Amino acid sequence: MPIGPLMIEHRLIEKMIAVMKKNLKPTEEQSYIAPGFIETTVDFIRTYADRCHHGKEEDILFRELKKKTLTAQHKKTMEELIEEHVWARKTTKALLKAYTRAQQGNAESISDVAAHLKALVDFYPQHIEKEDRHFFRPVMDYFTQAERDALLEEGFEFDRKLIHEKYKTVVENAEKLLI
Ligand SMILES: [Fe+2]
Ligand SMILES: [Fe+2]
Repeated sequence: MPIGPLMIEHRLIEKMIAVMKKNLKPTEEQSYIAPGFIETTVDFIRTYADRCHHGKEEDILFRELKKKTLTAQHKKTMEELIEEHVWARKTTKALLKAYTRAQQGNAESISDVAAHLKALVDFYPQHIEKEDRHFFRPVMDYFTQAERDALLEEGFEFDRKLIHEKYKTVVENAEKLLI
């Protein structure tokens, strides 16, 4: 089942959300942000939750579902999920922006860091539940076993390329710093 790896990835995202939740308290109550924590969070969300995980959802599973005749409910849910991915990207960007301002000495931005962090902590469990409980399993019925196997294999191929893609970007960004 191509949804197997996606559901396993949900479990790691949940673990990171729990860590973010723990870190939220000192940020809200004492304006404290553990060194490196936001950088780690942003990298996790962008590389793992968005590129690796949402990537396999949107670029493989949803792409193939769009070729099928979906029920109105499944179509609506898929559109919502895509919109939610867009929202998560925007909020992660806003989190990094607020954190950069806080690092530059703008103390008021720490409350924005906490607000964006909280928004992500509140968002992901609902998004994951929608997929796990109301979408992934039922939409598998649109595919034959051969199609499911092909989706799973394409997901593995997607993952194989990812680390190379990630560090190619890292090097390209490092090169830009020199100019
Ligand atoms: Fe998703
Ligand atoms: Fe997901």
